[in-house]
Amino acid sequence: MTCLVIGTGGREHALALALAQDPAVAAVHAAPGNPGIAEVATLHPVDPMDGVAVAELAQRLGADLVVVGPEAPLVAGVADAVRARGIAVFGPSRAAARLEGSKAFSKEVMAAAGVPTARAFTCTTPEETAAALDEFGAPYVVKDDALAAGKGVVVTRDRDEALAHAAACGRVVVEEFLDGPEVSLFAVCDGERAHPLQPAQDFKRIFDGGRGPNTGGMGSYTPLGWARPDLAQNVLDTVVTPTLDEMNRRGEPFVGCLYVGLALTGSGPRVIEFNCRFGDPDIQPVLAQLETGLGSLLYAAARGRLAETPAPTFRPGAAVSVVLASAGYPESSSKGDVISGVGSAGALEGVDVIHAGTALDGGELVTAGGRVLAVRATGSNVADARARAYAAADLISFAGLQRRSDIAAEPLGVVEGASATE
Ligand code: AMP
Ligand code: GLY
Repeated sequence: MTCLVIGTGGREHALALALAQDPAVAAVHAAPGNPGIAEVATLHPVDPMDGVAVAELAQRLGADLVVVGPEAPLVAGVADAVRARGIAVFGPSRAAARLEGSKAFSKEVMAAAGVPTARAFTCTTPEETAAALDEFGAPYVVKDDALAAGKGVVVTRDRDEALAHAAACGRVVVEEFLDGPEVSLFAVCDGERAHPLQPAQDFKRIFDGGRGPNTGGMGSYTPLGWARPDLAQNVLDTVVTPTLDEMNRRGEPFVGCLYVGLALTGSGPRVIEFNCRFGDPDIQPVLAQLETGLGSLLYAAARGRLAETPAPTFRPGAAVSVVLASAGYPESSSKGDVISGVGSAGALEGVDVIHAGTALDGGELVTAGGRVLAVRATGSNVADARARAYAAADLISFAGLQRRSDIAAEPLGVVEGASATE
């Protein structure tokens, strides 16, 4: 089969690598891609937000499967444009992508489906926000209702900071603070059914020990040796299946990755958020461990055939990704700094250097975004994979490089959400 991956970041690089390893996949294309993706796929300079252009490219390539990576094109309806031409797409329609595109909508669906989540109020005025903050008390959780690339959320004990964030956003969701380890569970959905992937954990704060502002993710690992073995099945039964049923009842079946961000609280798993696509870097170690061919799995989901498709299996051992970010991230980012050491890092056994924000400038690899690279390594267990990832990351340098030193360190299951109360 011929696959076309839409997007330009680390998630798309990890997807392209996994697709290229599936014996059922003959060719991988990407649009627009990045210098890392170019090593495993043929790149096409097509705007990922332009549904017609993406659909035309898919048709011209004879693509059997289009995988739309990021949320912005999904929320903009790019999957609909491709699907309208009869081409299989892994990625929800514009209507179903509202599960991520609007926090208020996702809360409404969760409530209708009986999905366990934080109690929440949608607020549009300072008075409503103040009342909601006082109802729940500190720590305060205030979320921009619109897409904000993982940075629209403020968790703070400072009531004024919570109010200021609400004022800056306009429409916000104020919710109860969920205390417990945070887990990412990716469910591959065909509209009716889902196969969960192995759970992972994403370290969201910029600094060691869970300090500093939230980012899109600074590192991740799988498996979660400390979690209950029935976690994925439990989330499938209490969260994913009821949500798919509710979306069907609304006539908006969800086909694609339902990313369930969970807090494992004292009273069981609670949903922190839904995303309508794979998470980055959380999906990276999961794809390293996936034994099942990714192309075949996503194609079955895109064609509504998960009922006839066996559940995916995972390799023994573990994988860890460590993100290398540029100066100023997450508030800003810097571009054009020369990157060295990627070749030697990637040559180490079990290591992939995943490109997130890189570009070529006169043949030299340079930084081109907030999150620049992720160094992913596999190993016999989390500690081994972690040691290999950091050994490889030590070989890479660029001006202003920022990385955490405690990704996947003991104690595993460290609670970034709880450390937000510091
Ligand atoms: P979100 O964009 O909804 O994933 O939120 C970003 C981060 O904020 C999450 O990964 C959590 O660390 C934190 N967060 C969001 N909602 C809550 C909540 N209700 N309780 C505690 N932490 C939260
Ligand atoms: N790693 C978090 C996200 O992809 O939203």
